Amino acid sequence: MHIINLGARQKIKMKVGNQNYQSIWLDESDPAVVKVIDQQKLPFFFETKELRSVDDVFCAIEDMTVRGAPLIGAAGAFGIYLATLEINSQTNIREHLLNAARYLISCRPTAVNLSWAVNYVLEKLSFDLPLKLLSERSLAAAVEICEKEKENCRQIGNHGLRLIEKISKKKKGDPVNILTHCNAGWLACIDYGTVTAPIYFAHNKGIPVHVWVDETRPRNQGAKLTAWELGQFGIPYTLIPDNSGGHLMQQKMVDIVIVGSDRTTRTGDVANKIGTYLKALAAYDNGIPFYSALPSTSIDFSISDGLKEITIEERNQGEVTHISGFDDGKIRSVRICPENTITANYGFDITPARLVTGLITEKGICRAAEEDIKMMFSDKFN
Ligand code: MRU
Repeated sequence: MHIINLGARQKIKMKVGNQNYQSIWLDESDPAVVKVIDQQKLPFFFETKELRSVDDVFCAIEDMTVRGAPLIGAAGAFGIYLATLEINSQTNIREHLLNAARYLISCRPTAVNLSWAVNYVLEKLSFDLPLKLLSERSLAAAVEICEKEKENCRQIGNHGLRLIEKISKKKKGDPVNILTHCNAGWLACIDYGTVTAPIYFAHNKGIPVHVWVDETRPRNQGAKLTAWELGQFGIPYTLIPDNSGGHLMQQKMVDIVIVGSDRTTRTGDVANKIGTYLKALAAYDNGIPFYSALPSTSIDFSISDGLKEITIEERNQGEVTHISGFDDGKIRSVRICPENTITANYGFDITPARLVTGLITEKGICRAAEEDIKMMFSDKFN
């Protein structure tokens, strides 16, 4: 295991120099090992974890060692590769791989990337292939998905940059205030991030930007991950409690909201981390542009009604009753409500297309409307 203690003054440069990480990769010294960054430990410790089996991948997705729609897709894809390494002479290959696929897909229901990626790898295989070829092909497909997602984010960055540039010009160079929810950064997306790529590109171009980071209860992906990622790149940000966005928008302290997506319908309804919908309502009421930045691998082209057709993951009570943080060199968890409190813990919500100004995809920016999505991704419509 690779561990770096991220004490107050210690800094690691994730994306520059020799420390250039992506959030999942194959171990060069042992191709039977897939490595990931343990997102449960950030921002307090930087640790990598080794995944050696389908079960390891399932557990890493389930306990959110890895999280974020594109990353759980990539992890699922590597899971099929690891499943091929579990095959022996007694194995019914078809049954084994289909079971592994079902098992991995069952892990988290909302993000469409997981089933998309697992099925993508399966489609590259035929079950009568020699074992060596099965492994080689599934590995190639998993690596291809990673490369595709990296490139998707880069393109999203280029397109999203134009929006930020436009606002910056209008503000005559005053910082562009971007509000985001949860974490759609490079940790969630293998590299660059969907929401963060336009921000990085703007920052690199010398455009002053400032990010309002929603803490994103209950797991605090904003406070723990987005804040950490932005800090690593020297991008100015301010962490805010989840309920602050509306006030900031009324006070004209937000120029644009950009969020990610875990599943978007062919009609432009956006499923994203719980709380996104409330930000969209506030943005709509205040005439502030609200964009979702997402790769096409997060679009479910088979569905049209987000409210009726997207399964919202319900997570455990402990995430609501307890909060974890850093104390005395250790990550600790404390209860924040009376004992035996009953909770509701929906992981995602749906922002209807009518509240979404546009979608920033790898192919460009379009309205959140079926005609526009179809024009951009005509090959995906039947
Ligand atoms: O539950 P998570 O942390 O896996 O949720 C995913 C998210 O962080 C988001 O909702 C995100 O905005 C989309 S993934 C790039």
